[in-house]
Amino acid sequence: MSNRGSIHKAVIPVAGLGTRFLPATKATPKEMLPVVDKPAIQYVVEEAVAAGIHDVLFVTGRNKDSLENHFDRSPNLERTLAERGDFEMQGKIAELADLAAMHYVRQGVPMGLGHAVSMAKEHVGSEPFAVLLGDDLVDASTPVLPDMFAAQQKFGGSILALMEVPADQIHLYGCAAVVETDTPDVVRVTQLVEKPAAGTAPSNLAVIGRYVIDPAIFGLLENLAPGRGGEIQLTDALAALIDTPADSGGGVHAVIFRGKRYDTGDKLSYLKSVVSIALDRDDLGPDLRAWLTSY
Ligand code: G1P
Repeated sequence: MSNRGSIHKAVIPVAGLGTRFLPATKATPKEMLPVVDKPAIQYVVEEAVAAGIHDVLFVTGRNKDSLENHFDRSPNLERTLAERGDFEMQGKIAELADLAAMHYVRQGVPMGLGHAVSMAKEHVGSEPFAVLLGDDLVDASTPVLPDMFAAQQKFGGSILALMEVPADQIHLYGCAAVVETDTPDVVRVTQLVEKPAAGTAPSNLAVIGRYVIDPAIFGLLENLAPGRGGEIQLTDALAALIDTPADSGGGVHAVIFRGKRYDTGDKLSYLKSVVSIALDRDDLGPDLRAWLTSY
């Protein structure tokens, strides 16, 4: 049976070592680095919740305690804030534990994104699920998950989000060859390559870190040989889904994303994300803009 239905569960891989941000990430997970006044991972969870997800599975590794604490109640802090009369912040802090049902599974050894997703098999069960990568922040004003969920309802199978990038950037991403469908901005994926070498990319359409995936992926991930970088690549398993019959959960479509996305994956793009998000805020934007201009 082809699997079409509402998406209830999100899987968020957070087991990476964050080596690009050392020494900041020696004892702090990179997902907990602040983007203005929230840790990056909070934006990702809030995006999933805004799209109707009410069950989140984090695939974690060592040193992720602070992330678990962030999405848990903090009775002492809440009491202190209440005693000071700061009920607004007390509410915000308490709400973090109720955003969704949070679950955790450990990856054990970091063997790649595909391996991280394979850890979700038992929790996910038999329905299509969302995967959100913490390095990509999608601006709340231009969400992509609702369009992806609608595409999944219409076409079944798995749904990617693709963004046009300059040709000299495509080697940093998974890359898709596509054909049009009868739905504007929804395409059928015919080929997927993880981080193509310069000059070999089949298009300038980059896979961004939002996926709706059919559970048929789990069988494919189990039998997948290591790909680029010696890692079990999610992109390779998704490529195998292209050739899987629809009645076995195959077929891959994609939504073309034209909204605002921030990349917190390396130092320069992280700094740009912080500045862009702060500039958009009413409480900080005007003063920051004035200072940046004079600076
Ligand atoms: C991962 C995926 C890649 C995708 C990217 C989006 O790569 O493997 O296909 O384009 O996320 O951010 P990473 O950035 O983790 O190396």
